[in-house]
Amino acid sequence: MKVIAVYSTKGGVGKTTAAVNLAWEAARDLRVLLWDLDPQGAATFVMQVKPKLKGGVGALVAGDKKAASAIRSTSVDGIDVLPADASYRDLDLVFDQAKKSEQRVSKILEQVADDYDVVILDCPPGSSLVAENAVYSADAVVVPLVPSPLSMRALAQVEEFVAASASKAPVVAFLSMVDRRKTLHREAVTTLPSQDGAVVDVVVPATVHVERMGTERAPIAVYAPTSEAAKAYTALWARVQGIVKAKPRKRKR
Ligand SMILES: Nc1ncnc2c1ncn2[C@@H]1O[C@H](COP(=O)(O)OP(=O)(O)O)[C@@H](O)[C@H]1O
Ligand SMILES: [Mg+2]
Repeated sequence: MKVIAVYSTKGGVGKTTAAVNLAWEAARDLRVLLWDLDPQGAATFVMQVKPKLKGGVGALVAGDKKAASAIRSTSVDGIDVLPADASYRDLDLVFDQAKKSEQRVSKILEQVADDYDVVILDCPPGSSLVAENAVYSADAVVVPLVPSPLSMRALAQVEEFVAASASKAPVVAFLSMVDRRKTLHREAVTTLPSQDGAVVDVVVPATVHVERMGTERAPIAVYAPTSEAAKAYTALWARVQGIVKAKPRKRKR
């Protein structure tokens, strides 16, 4: 089982969008668990799962509740979701009070190691203990970058954060929400992938197809399979899969 953390210190850069669409791409032939670690529950909402966790995430961390009983199936073949509810707001505190604080996510995932080929973690922004947990358990850390000087700062922060952890996970950044009418964005597309080894040459355009995900409540490929955005996530998954080399136990679709 391979774990992919979709993470950035910045909010609103396309983490949840990437997490949901990478999950869809992976689920073409792998069994995928999408774990929503953000109390905002955007991934939970898009995948049409009820944001309800009996006993809250605290029970999951304490071991009073098994991961399998909190996981929900979705209408998308091959994707299950571990939903986030409001109790995730206190997750940092819950981890802080637990032993080996940064290894809790990894421990919980051990319970389902035989059930899934890939786990995608949709992380909240910031450099929290939640992020430390995600990075600790990850085989790759995927970082969306909206072209701007600040987003390069965010990439540097993620790289420092991963380097300071026990994790050996490579950082895989891609350009997100790219508007080719903007000079800065066009420049970023041509220069960043060759300048910074962590930036792969995958460009997700800023389009209405992506915005619609909130109303369609499905991965982009479900309602706009031929869109440039859907193709970009196919390419992104190919890159990530090439790095983590997740293997199917059994072909799903
Ligand atoms: N490529 C894109 N084009 C247009 N809108 C986008 C794109 N990517 C994300 N968005 C929108 O931007 C907002 C933030 O995206 P989201 O994936 O939730 O970011 P994060 O999880 O990093 O906070 C959402 O409303 C989403 O629909
Ligand atoms: Mg999000």
